[in-house]
Amino acid sequence: MLRADDQRVPGLIETGWRITARSWAAQLDADRADRAALRRFVERVAPIVVGELGDVDLPAVLALDAATVTDYPGSVATQHEALTRSSAALSPTRRGFGAWTPSGDLVGTTYVDVDVDVDTVETSFTVVARDHRGRGVGTALKAASVLALLDEHVVRFRTGGSDDNPAIITAGAAVGYVRDEEWVTLER
Ligand SMILES: CC(C)(COP(=O)(O)OP(=O)(O)OC[C@H]1O[C@@H](n2cnc3c(N)ncnc32)[C@H](O)[C@@H]1OP(=O)(O)O)[C@@H](O)C(=O)NCCC(=O)NCCS
Repeated sequence: MLRADDQRVPGLIETGWRITARSWAAQLDADRADRAALRRFVERVAPIVVGELGDVDLPAVLALDAATVTDYPGSVATQHEALTRSSAALSPTRRGFGAWTPSGDLVGTTYVDVDVDVDTVETSFTVVARDHRGRGVGTALKAASVLALLDEHVVRFRTGGSDDNPAIITAGAAVGYVRDEEWVTLER
């Protein structure tokens, strides 16, 4: 994987490597976040409720992950490893947010990793149950995570994804992330 503007890319392509996937990273600076718009993204999915996960939710998170683990587009750069009890565990630096139906079913989640040394939050993954996609839940999850962490004085939020994933590109842009890195995956 190389940055798309890496000077080695043309030479590699000449010698038989080819680009097999493209991916990107993006940033939202806290001082540019539009809290009112973020709140609207969360409120518009009612009666689905979005909020922070607790330990009690972990069995549902693991079940949702197991049901969706093959749904992530892209290649090695944007691979999603199946969650384990350990990687699903919540802590002050690994936070999770969920979306629940009125009957209490978890239908979406996003996990973020907090780097307190640099006041930066990096999205780990976002997923919505197949039968609830395309109704704003993914955007609401991303918005809710930003809103919660803005209140904890995070300075910058980072996220990323595959160029082959229009839903997460659109959701990130709506929340205010601006693309600042382009990557290519090359294979011989
Ligand atoms: C990516 C994902 C989380 C998005 O969740 P979602 O609830 O469907 O997203 P939203 O309904 O908030 O849609 C976000 C935007 O993408 C658009 N969109 C959704 N699916 C789309 C598709 N297949 N093609 C193009 N646009 C799409 C929506 O129209 C919406 O834009 P709009 O607000 O302008 O209408 C969900 O598709 C998913 O779980 N995918 C599998 C896991 C994954 O790829 N996760 C992301 C990488 S970590």
